[in-house]
Amino acid sequence: MTRTSVVTGAASGIGKATTEKPRTDGHTVVGVDIRDADVVVDLSTDEGRTALVHEVSQRAGGRIDSVIAVAGLVAASPVTVGVNYFGAKATLEGLRPLLAGSDAPRAVVVASLAALEDVDDGLYAKLLADDEPGARAEAERIGTATNAAGSSAIYSTTKKAIAHWVRTHAKDPEWAGAGIALNAIAPGVIETPMTAPALQTAEGRAALDAGAPSPLNGPAAPPAAPAALLAWLASSENTHVTGQVVFIDGGAESIRRPELV
Ligand SMILES: NC(=O)c1ccc[n+]([C@@H]2O[C@H](COP(=O)([O-])OP(=O)(O)OC[C@H]3O[C@@H](n4cnc5c(N)ncnc54)[C@H](O)[C@@H]3O)[C@@H](O)[C@H]2O)c1
Repeated sequence: MTRTSVVTGAASGIGKATTEKPRTDGHTVVGVDIRDADVVVDLSTDEGRTALVHEVSQRAGGRIDSVIAVAGLVAASPVTVGVNYFGAKATLEGLRPLLAGSDAPRAVVVASLAALEDVDDGLYAKLLADDEPGARAEAERIGTATNAAGSSAIYSTTKKAIAHWVRTHAKDPEWAGAGIALNAIAPGVIETPMTAPALQTAEGRAALDAGAPSPLNGPAAPPAAPAALLAWLASSENTHVTGQVVFIDGGAESIRRPELV
């Protein structure tokens, strides 16, 4: 049976890879991005998020089977807060009503291994309070400050927050109660335009490997790897996995916190 899915971040990297196999297999994919996509919207703005729901609904005839929120960026900027947390949440919540007509509705968002880093407490509190203006102000304050691992504190805090949101909401009547599996994946290092600058130099590769040691087929996976995991979590075969953050990182998470089972 063919399925209709919505993939944000479809113009590049993991999102682009996520659109490819289902289209080849005859499924319908509505790609969303700020450029080069079926639906072109800016997920950092309220206008873009409203247009997303309207345009996807029109294109899909008011009914979809899965939503896969991949769009994100690593910039040390309030825009990162707008896309990685509020844009991803608006994608999942805004498109949820369109899942109601599916006999196997699924939702997945891309978090990150970076969610294991320390959060910026001020920004994290605003994100969990659903306060976007407050969170953007915190991001202005943080600027280019890094966490202990040397990467953007804004980025890691948004990724921890969206992973937390999935874990706390998957059980809710709107999600599990409506038969919708809601999960996140947490990639380590994936070869995409996002990581290309760092992967080009020995220093950059060493820094990535320090934060994300990948004994299994590391140090950087092709985007087809997370795309396949997203596809399964969003498929009708996934009847009982929900509320999970599934790490796809060559073993990094298990090395960093082996006590967690
Ligand atoms: N590449 C990695 O190693 C890695 C690791 C962990 C998590 N991730 C996450 O995976 C996701 C995809 O990253 P990628 O590596 O494929 O990066 P990418 O830069 O190749 O793709 C990101 C896509 O998001 C889109 N996007 C950015 N801002 C947007 C906006 N305002 N509105 C709509 N679309 C917007 C971009 O146009 C782009 O097509 C991101 O959420 C990223 O944080 C990536």
